[in-house]
Amino acid sequence: MGLYMNKLINFIVGSTLILLITGCDDKSISLYEEDYGVLDNGILIKQYIFENDNQMKVKIINYGAIVVSIEVPDKKGKINDVVLGYDSIDGYVQDPSYFGAIVGRVGNRISKGKFSLDGKDYALAINNNENHLHGGIQGFNKKVWTPEITESNGLPALKLTYLSPDGEEGYPGNLNLEVTYTISNKNELIIDYFGTTDKATILNPTNHSYFNLSGAGNGDILDHVLKINADYFTPVDKGLIPLGNHESVLGTPMDFLNPKKIGERINNDDNQLKVGLGYDHNWVFNNWDGTLKLGVTLFEPESGRFMEVFTTEPGVQFYSGNFLDGTNIGKNQKAYQYRSALCLETDHFPDSQNNSNFPSVVLRPGEEYKQKTIYQFSTK
Ligand code: GLA
Repeated sequence: MGLYMNKLINFIVGSTLILLITGCDDKSISLYEEDYGVLDNGILIKQYIFENDNQMKVKIINYGAIVVSIEVPDKKGKINDVVLGYDSIDGYVQDPSYFGAIVGRVGNRISKGKFSLDGKDYALAINNNENHLHGGIQGFNKKVWTPEITESNGLPALKLTYLSPDGEEGYPGNLNLEVTYTISNKNELIIDYFGTTDKATILNPTNHSYFNLSGAGNGDILDHVLKINADYFTPVDKGLIPLGNHESVLGTPMDFLNPKKIGERINNDDNQLKVGLGYDHNWVFNNWDGTLKLGVTLFEPESGRFMEVFTTEPGVQFYSGNFLDGTNIGKNQKAYQYRSALCLETDHFPDSQNNSNFPSVVLRPGEEYKQKTIYQFSTK
C-alpha cells in the first residue's frame, strides 16, 4: 500500500496528456490537461485534472497556480467541491480575494511596504491601505506560470514555475519559484515549494484556498470545528500588522488547542477579534523545527468531512472569510457570503522582515527555499 511500482504510462490523446501511475494495490492516479480559457492578451490557460481511486478530484490552472476545485466524498459518499472559486478564467482575472491562488513573493502584510535587507531599504508596492499585501498589485496570483507534467515521490505531479524578475513589485533579485502539486490515494493534496534567487530577497509564499467542508457556497463555516496546535498567536494592530510579540492563547478566543466550533467565540467582545473583524491572525505552531508536522485539523460535523493540515512552516494564518460579502459570484453562480469559507495559509509569520524575533524569510543566492504543506481529507 502506498508503494508505487514504476509503472508509468504517459501518452497523448489529441492535445490531452494523460499520465497514469498504477500501484501494487491496483490503485491509480491520473493527471490530464485540457484547455481552460484565454486571457485578453491571447495567452491560453490550461487546466490540470488529478483523479485518484478514492473519489478525490482536484483541478488546478496555470494562472495564479490556482486550485480551482477539490472534490471529496462526505461520510455517506456524496461528492462536493470544498473550495471557493469561479466558473471561468474571467472570474479569476477579476478576483479580489485570492481564491485558491499561490500568493507571493510574500504572503500577508508588510508594514507600509517597507523593509531593510543587508543595510539597504526597499519600498514595495502598496495595495492594502498603507501596507503591502500578498505580493503587491500584480502578485503571483495574477501571473501565468509555466506548467510541466512530471512525477514527484512516485506520483504524477504538476510543476508550475514562475520567474519573478528583479524589482517586480519592489522586491530585489530574480526569483525562481516552483510549486509542485500532487495528489495521493490517501486523499492528500500535496504542495511543494522550491525557490532560488540571484540576489538576497524575501520569500514567503502560501496557498490561499478558501475551504468550506460542506461544499463551496453551502452556508457559513461557523459550525466547522477547528484545532490548531499553537500555544501562541501573534497579535496585530488596527491595520492587521503584527505587534511583534507572541501572546498566549490561553483564556482567549484564540485558543484552539482543543477542537472548538469557529462560531462559538468569533463575536466575543475581544480586542483582537475586533481588529480582525473575526479571525484573521497568525498562530505560532508548537515545537516547530522545519519538519513536516500536523498543525491544524478542521471538521464539519454534518458532512463528516475532516481535513488535516501538515506543514513544514512555523505558522498558519487562519482567516475566517470576514471580507466576503456576497459580491464574489462563484461557481454555479453562487454568491459567496460573509464567513462562507475559511483559509488556513501555512507560512512564516506576516511582516517577518520587520520583526527580527520572527523566523527569517530571507533567501540568498546559493540557498534553496523548500517548504511543504499537505491538506488531507477523510471523514469521521
Ligand atoms: C488574507 C488576509 C486577510 C485578507 C485576505 C484576502 O488571508 O489575512 O486580511 O486580506 O487574505 O481578502
